[in-house]
Amino acid sequence: MIFDILTLFPAMFASPFEESILGKARARGLVTVRVHNIRDHAEDRHQMADDRPFGGGEGMIMKPEPVVKALEAVRAEGPPAVAVLLSPQGELFSQSLAWEFSRLERLILICGRYEGVDERVVHFVDREVSIGDYILTGGELAAMVVVDAAARLIPGVLGNTASPEAESFREPILEYPQYTRPREFRGLRVPEVLLSGDHEAVRRWRRAEALRRTRIRRPDLFSRLKLSDEDRRLLQA
Ligand code: ADE
Repeated sequence: MIFDILTLFPAMFASPFEESILGKARARGLVTVRVHNIRDHAEDRHQMADDRPFGGGEGMIMKPEPVVKALEAVRAEGPPAVAVLLSPQGELFSQSLAWEFSRLERLILICGRYEGVDERVVHFVDREVSIGDYILTGGELAAMVVVDAAARLIPGVLGNTASPEAESFREPILEYPQYTRPREFRGLRVPEVLLSGDHEAVRRWRRAEALRRTRIRRPDLFSRLKLSDEDRRLLQA
């Protein structure tokens, strides 16, 4: 799969995809990430990519021409693509959107910057996506999140053993706590049950912890769980 990233700050993408799983996926040719500088498509002498907002107000707005020209140039040089503008006004990114993107041949990600992007740009993209209800200084980190979440779902990227498909069939519950050696770290001990060798007791403990955590931290998820009789008993214990 090809990711084309359009940004005013290409240097921000110098290394994030070189490490670990995505680095290997790129080396194996499963994932291609290309970064394009929007400023290269600015027409005027000063290569201005932003300007003051009509109607007044704070800050600068990204001009439409450089963004749309960059998009058209990149679109023209490869297979069919879905173009996404990253902005806080977009639809909320989710695991199901990550799946949808992972099945594409090519995704073009446009990073908005400054106080915003001229609204007319929206007419030239396929969708507008936000990664969460908080404001970043620009769409660059959001684009990295989208690339990471989609790329790990491409067949082969996680290796042969891991199966991201299984994640989508799992019930929406938080993970139970995990521990590794040492048994005691700065006075904090690993729960005794995990050292007991009693697999059934371990299973019950993990289920109870996952249920309790979800109830406290994510009541929205907890209300959607279908609790078994055993779940109810575990929660009462
Ligand atoms: N640009 C600034 N904030 C953003 C967000 N939360 N998601 C996507 N793009 C953004």
